[in-house]
Amino acid sequence: QELQLNLEQIEKGGYDHFMLKEIYEQPSVIKDTYRGRLLADQGIVRLGGLENYIEKFTNAQRIIIVACGTSWHAGLVAEYIFEDLVRIPVEVEYASEFRYRNPIISEKDVVIAISQSGETADTLAAIKLAKSKGAFVYGVCNVVGSSISRETHSGTYTHAGPEIGVASTKAFTTQITVLAMIALRLAKAKGTISQSDFMLYLRALELIPNQVEEALKTDDKITEISAAFKDARNFLYLGRGYNFPVALEGALKLKEISYIHAEGYPAAEMKHGPIALIDEQMPVVVIAIKSDHYDKVVSNIQEIKARKGKIIAVVSKGDTVVKEMADYVMEVPHTMEALTPLLTTIPLQLLSYHIAVMLNRNVDQPRNLAKSVTVE
Ligand code: AGP
Repeated sequence: QELQLNLEQIEKGGYDHFMLKEIYEQPSVIKDTYRGRLLADQGIVRLGGLENYIEKFTNAQRIIIVACGTSWHAGLVAEYIFEDLVRIPVEVEYASEFRYRNPIISEKDVVIAISQSGETADTLAAIKLAKSKGAFVYGVCNVVGSSISRETHSGTYTHAGPEIGVASTKAFTTQITVLAMIALRLAKAKGTISQSDFMLYLRALELIPNQVEEALKTDDKITEISAAFKDARNFLYLGRGYNFPVALEGALKLKEISYIHAEGYPAAEMKHGPIALIDEQMPVVVIAIKSDHYDKVVSNIQEIKARKGKIIAVVSKGDTVVKEMADYVMEVPHTMEALTPLLTTIPLQLLSYHIAVMLNRNVDQPRNLAKSVTVE
């Protein structure tokens, strides 16, 4: 028993939980995921599993992304990146819904299946259905030789290493890293991105690990915020554009490890009902980084404050406007908008982690959850 405990302590690398270790591994595993694939100095993105299928993607009439949970949130980010850069229509589907709704699929469709474990039953079934109707299926998995990696026609592995914590963290950021590289490679092939923008993205992606390190430095500030809100019964998470999926992901993290109810919403959607929920008991996490949506998010924050809502804002480093309005801010460095989810998700991972620890939850193995949902 003693040996087992010591072994686990060694595996945790001195961290209290695997989840915290995996949050802090993100700078290095993002680098591991783009190493040898992102060659910024040569202006090249090269993905082994993709090179023989470029035309499959560039000639596709549609890309369908199938996934579950956090991987589905990564798929939503990919929808924004692919439609923005590659100009191919993208649909993101819950694998569990896709497999049963008799979807219209043809050989002109390309399906991307995203799965950390590579064993999720619904995602595997969705892949088989798509293949049976002639679609080309590409996998983004974290486990070599997993069922999904074997079932897909080709794919790209994330190099996140084993993710032990049930709540997915480094898998999410490495999935987005892979999906961004796929989008950049396809945009280059399709000519939908200029050489200068392409190079800007390569340089920006290369910088991300250092910027994740910087975002992790707000950990102490986030512990203070967690202490202030750990007894809240409900949270709202709001984001726009590329950060709408991050709002959903932030809410999922809080739900699954602290057992506090949380909902993610597109910030503009508040006016269509949810703002009725706002009062001083309802903390609202708002992703309010410098972006095309910034001014609109600022007015969303004003609407919430007018109803006595408490605001916890994720802001760009140096922001002064939201800083004056919010009750608490968590700063992240500035990067290209399509890559901001790699940074804005960091404070939200830490917020959910610290709240769960303060509530004495079983952070690495939350109640009722399994790391891989291999049954329906
Ligand atoms: C995320 O924190 C959860 N553990 C869960 O939603 C997970 O993302 C989902 O079950 C999908 O798992 P997969 O990526 O291994 O397919």
